[in-house]
Amino acid sequence: TQAPVNVTVTGAAGQIGYALLFRIASGQLLGADTPVKLRLLEIPQAVKAAEGTAMELDDCAFPLLKGIDITDDAKKAFDGTNVALLVGARPRTKGMERGDLLAANGGIFKPQGEAINAGAADDVRVLVVGNPANTNALIAQAHAPDVPAERFTAMTRLDHNRALSQLSAKLGVAVTDIKKLTIWGNHSATQYPDLFNAEVGGKVAAEQVEQEWLKDTFIPTVAKRGAAIIEARGASSAASAANAAIDHVYDWVNGTPEGDWTSAAVVSDGSYGVPEGLISSFPVVSRNGRYEIVQGLEIGEFSRERIDASVQELIEERDAVKQLGLI
Ligand code: NAI
Repeated sequence: TQAPVNVTVTGAAGQIGYALLFRIASGQLLGADTPVKLRLLEIPQAVKAAEGTAMELDDCAFPLLKGIDITDDAKKAFDGTNVALLVGARPRTKGMERGDLLAANGGIFKPQGEAINAGAADDVRVLVVGNPANTNALIAQAHAPDVPAERFTAMTRLDHNRALSQLSAKLGVAVTDIKKLTIWGNHSATQYPDLFNAEVGGKVAAEQVEQEWLKDTFIPTVAKRGAAIIEARGASSAASAANAAIDHVYDWVNGTPEGDWTSAAVVSDGSYGVPEGLISSFPVVSRNGRYEIVQGLEIGEFSRERIDASVQELIEERDAVKQLGLI
């Protein structure tokens, strides 16, 4: 029988953690044949709550769940880890400047990157969910020089899924009829959901919708969906974020379907004019356990402007954390 895969979840006592852990333990993260061991990392004040969640995990009697460790020590949490889901982050509070937010998160993602570098398994895969996700991933990656940079990713799969859902509702087609959709850039309001390379029924998606709808409804609805959820629910997206994290890792490990791709923020190799080293969202396929950027797509002027604007924001975030000495 297969040895258990060690999965570390930070911010395990938070709302995404609560929606995520049960799905990991049930086999949805890696596949129904793969046993898992969970490592839950929390801050000291939240360890007790994480222990409560672990009691509920026990009570599910999941056949694939081979153990749960709970700690407030990053070194222990990442020792031997194969999959690291970095969910816990410092949220922006009222009156907080971007520099303060980046600095506070640097205080979390720098030591976590170091701990991953020191102790993670050779095949470690890292997904950063905690915001600002792309730049937090960049900080962690910068402090893990012995881990291949491509193993650090940030999540734009929720944006991707939101775009699929909006387009399927607009066209009255199944989400599975939509292929090759892409989220480009930062997981922020500047992200760009691209329908020009997307296909519905084998035809260009952008040509099946009115241009006004694309520009004035679709793009802002996808980009501002997080705020709309907060407005409606009184809390930020949690189950949908957890679902996207599951999708991201499942596809990374098991491969993306033939004839399609997905979106993930991965380290740029300079493709599509995105500066090398930035962690930016791209169209990606997963083959042999690796995410690869889809090459050779045509980028029209409409898309170019929007991709550039989002990448510019990532450059500014990178420069800010550089200035703070975080990378
Ligand atoms: P939450 O506030 O409910 O939970 C966060 C948890 O992280 C808390 O339990 C907290 O104690 C813990 N935490 C804080 N610092 C930590 C540290 N240094 N080590 C370990 N744990 C730590 O937040 P929620 O709703 O679970 O969201 C988590 C993050 O995910 C937020 O940053 C949120 O903005 C982000 N997010 C990202 C999305 C994406 O698409 N990339 C979508 C939705 C949320």
